[in-house]
Amino acid sequence: MIKACIFDLDGVIVDTARYHFIAWRRLANYLGFDFTEEENEKLKGVSRMDSLNLILQWGGIEKTEVEKEELAELKNGWYREYILRMDSSEILEGVLPFLDSLGEEGIRMAVGSSSKNAGTILDQIGLTHRFEAIIDGNKITRSKPDPQVFELGAEAMQLQPMECIVFEDAEAGVDAALAGGFLAVGVGKEENLGHAHFVIPNFVGLRFQHILEGIKKAH
Ligand code: BG6
Ligand code: MG
Repeated sequence: MIKACIFDLDGVIVDTARYHFIAWRRLANYLGFDFTEEENEKLKGVSRMDSLNLILQWGGIEKTEVEKEELAELKNGWYREYILRMDSSEILEGVLPFLDSLGEEGIRMAVGSSSKNAGTILDQIGLTHRFEAIIDGNKITRSKPDPQVFELGAEAMQLQPMECIVFEDAEAGVDAALAGGFLAVGVGKEENLGHAHFVIPNFVGLRFQHILEGIKKAH
């Protein structure tokens, strides 16, 4: 019996995955190299420091811990420039009607994001009040693919993992949901997210019943 949905934020509710990509790429270019959109898939859902470590590895660059802190800060400053310009028009198409359909069915809602900026983004787009629990990068000690962020979300609602569906656009996020015993819906491309219980391209035209049917059919 499904009682709640836990949403990743970046790339699921808003297209901030694009802003992360632009800001990280700006940092890589600043350091004298570039990386591809395909490599960027590996950064989705991954914490700021883990992302930086991967990018430095791709560029074959070594930095001290202090330098890494400075680089992460530089990227975050650029990223915040982008997100502080956001408003509700950036909520991805289909998301609001989908949240409404959950409300109508009495399904509870939470956010489970690795981002320390999740609170800022939810405020910018005016959605903070729609979620019963918001677990963000400030509340976790282990980043996706560890299931901690979703486990804390379920705990905050006093629910078991198997009573919750996690919506994720990241490979690492789907891994996290599966590792925690949640039902996982991938939002994006089958080729990246095929390990989820069910994959949707986006929320356009979707209602809660469609998700339940999709999960059932896939089994
Ligand atoms: C995740 C994003 O939601 O948050 C990652 O998918 C990002 O790309 C991570 O690195 C951490 O975000 P922030 O805002 O704390 O740097
Ligand atoms: Mg994401």
